[in-house]
Amino acid sequence: MCGIIGYAGRDEAAPVLLDGLERLEYRGYDSAGLALFDRGGALALVRASGKLAALRGRLLEEMEQGLDAHGTVGLGHTRWATHGAPTEPNAHPHRSMRGTYTVVHNGIIENYAVLRRELEGKGVVFASETDTEVIAQLLEQTDTGSPLETLRKALPRLEGSYALGVLYHTDPETVYCARRQSPLLAAKIETDEGTAGTLLASDAAALLPYSREVYRLEDGELGALRADGMRFYGMDGTEHFLQPMVFSRHVTAADKGGYVHFMRKEIDEQPEALRRTLAPLLQKDGLFLGQGEAALRDPDGIRRVLFLGCGSAYHAGLVGAALMEKLTGIPSAAELASEFRGRKPRLDRHCLAVVISQSGETADTLAALRIAKEQGARVLGVVNVEGSSIAQESGCVIPTQAGLEVAVATTKAYSTQLSVLYALATRLAELRGDAGPGFLREFTQALRRLPGQAAAALHTSEGTVRDWAAECQQAQHTYFLGRQLDYCAAAEAALKLKEISYIHAEAYPAGELKHGTISLIEPGTPVLAVCCQPEVAAKTRSNMEEAHARGAALYCITAEGIPHAALAAERRLVLPGTHALLTASLAALPAQLFAYHCAALKKCDIDQPRSLAKSVTVE
Ligand code: AGP
Repeated sequence: MCGIIGYAGRDEAAPVLLDGLERLEYRGYDSAGLALFDRGGALALVRASGKLAALRGRLLEEMEQGLDAHGTVGLGHTRWATHGAPTEPNAHPHRSMRGTYTVVHNGIIENYAVLRRELEGKGVVFASETDTEVIAQLLEQTDTGSPLETLRKALPRLEGSYALGVLYHTDPETVYCARRQSPLLAAKIETDEGTAGTLLASDAAALLPYSREVYRLEDGELGALRADGMRFYGMDGTEHFLQPMVFSRHVTAADKGGYVHFMRKEIDEQPEALRRTLAPLLQKDGLFLGQGEAALRDPDGIRRVLFLGCGSAYHAGLVGAALMEKLTGIPSAAELASEFRGRKPRLDRHCLAVVISQSGETADTLAALRIAKEQGARVLGVVNVEGSSIAQESGCVIPTQAGLEVAVATTKAYSTQLSVLYALATRLAELRGDAGPGFLREFTQALRRLPGQAAAALHTSEGTVRDWAAECQQAQHTYFLGRQLDYCAAAEAALKLKEISYIHAEAYPAGELKHGTISLIEPGTPVLAVCCQPEVAAKTRSNMEEAHARGAALYCITAEGIPHAALAAERRLVLPGTHALLTASLAALPAQLFAYHCAALKKCDIDQPRSLAKSVTVE
């Protein structure tokens, strides 16, 4: 998703902007640019398609040709293309026709085409295909000489979402900003002599190296950032005094720590992330969910549980729903947030809506949260990024403690989401009396052992899945099978493979394969089955035989204690012994490594796969 960085200070802006954009690279992008006032107050603008290295190169070229890029106020942007190809003309910043306004934007302007036609009717000539340029041109056509007043007049004409950085041609000291739905944050650079600069960013990762106090603009707020401080306003012009969020950990620059890829580092960080996440939940005298306890008040009054999320967060919700129903008997379901928001179901206080998100900024998930809240459901957030929109708007939050996750493909955040959902289902079962002391003791003990077993699973599976990857890396199509909880694990395994290796991967409930998709199985087609649930293992093996009978190359992730009717063609990986209900968590680990090695053999851009973004803040 697009990354925004703005700076108004005493130092040269270009290095600060480029450093900030580097810290936002992990969000995913395909072009970049920056705009800054030169020492004469004129605006310099440099853009390039591709990665930041291309922008740096272009900037150097332009400076060698005389561009004065030594100013101290400016904006930077990494663009994840929504309207218009990732070309230089479509890269941000976008300047209005007469150069009065220069804009960077994250979000989507839904009525941009209508506005563009209106502006072209007034003689405005557009230089790009983007919705963002409409904002710059509209500001210029609405200009009153006061940027804040102009923003207040023009922004209501926009339909959709925006986080904006704005420069005004006759005000080289100020970075203006405005927010609606897309996140936008600000921070001050404090020194012993006071404020030495201010920063604007779409993501705290770009601000935390400068300050742990981060100010978050709310919908409908505007701001003006200058070297000596910043001020915020409402759309009615009244000044707003924002309270800073103080981040508990000083997240420094994302650091690979000697790994080739962030994803591989984050795969290995999972045992520690699980330990950090479970520690506050597994008190010595039992489970305690912290803020999450508030969502479980009147536990017998909870008659329905929904798990809302997108992508891997949705897959975590599948596991959460299965566990919740198994342990409490409460009707539970995972729903894709993008579909849920379209359905607008009737909910009430008897419904617990568990909103799952790593970034806490996924637009569809945030929209689903708001609908659940409007409908009167209890909303519990399971979120990784502190201070994010979903964390802020959830009634209460059980945080995952995965730490900064940089790779677009989630690994440690997903695993810690599962651990929170395991604890949630168990705690609710305990409060409702649905689980006896024996099960609670056994299951919480198994949860305590999970981090260590995760470490063991990573260690014991690497060699095997590396071999599997060597066999499968050229495959065009792969299929992942499982029943019940094993299907949940298969779904996440398939997503991991396709999103980073670009190999088509489809997850199927094992019993459903024969109802159509089995016709796609050809000799040599890789079929990977997850077979860890004792009560359905025999049936899953039958489905594997059906695939094998059509020539499939069978791979199986299974668990200790599952009987292995030897299938000569079957390549098998046995997970460390754990509670059957926890195997989805362990099965994810070899699946992540399998995807990683396939992508590495194919020399894919593992941390920033094509077309993907770390936080999908558009709908
Ligand atoms: C997972 O590897 C993907 N990057 C993607 O599916 C992700 O899980 C989804 O976009 C949800 O993101 P969130 O957890 O930040 O809301």
